[in-house]
Amino acid sequence: MRKAEGAPSTDILTENCQQQDIMLRERQYRLACEDNLSFIERLPGGYFKLIVTSPPYNIGKPYEGQLSMQEYIEQQRQVITECVRLLAEDGSICW
Ligand SMILES: C[S@@+](CC[C@H](N)C(=O)[O-])C[C@H]1O[C@@H](n2cnc3c(N)ncnc32)[C@H](O)[C@@H]1O
Repeated sequence: MRKAEGAPSTDILTENCQQQDIMLRERQYRLACEDNLSFIERLPGGYFKLIVTSPPYNIGKPYEGQLSMQEYIEQQRQVITECVRLLAEDGSICW
């Protein structure tokens, strides 16, 4: 899966963030700082009980590129398709 046109550069996504593995209450969590599609395509399908996203608004915020509406919808379609693949049968998504 390719990185969407107009998505923030890897530099912008990582300049204030380093990947970290965090242990909390005997569970391991990963803070990943990279293009979301590149990251989630490596995750196992049907595994996740809850997916919460906070997608770009695409209204020209300083921290985001701005895509045409068609490109934005296509980018989000790819993300939602991947999220559906990742969800467990009884999982929930908050997009
Ligand atoms: C609407 S903002 C989220 C704001 C966040 N929920 C908060 O409360 O601060 C969308 C975020 O998605 C990030 N983003 C945009 N495209 C991305 C991509 N392809 N991969 C990873 N993050 C991306 C932007 O840099 C921005 O921080």
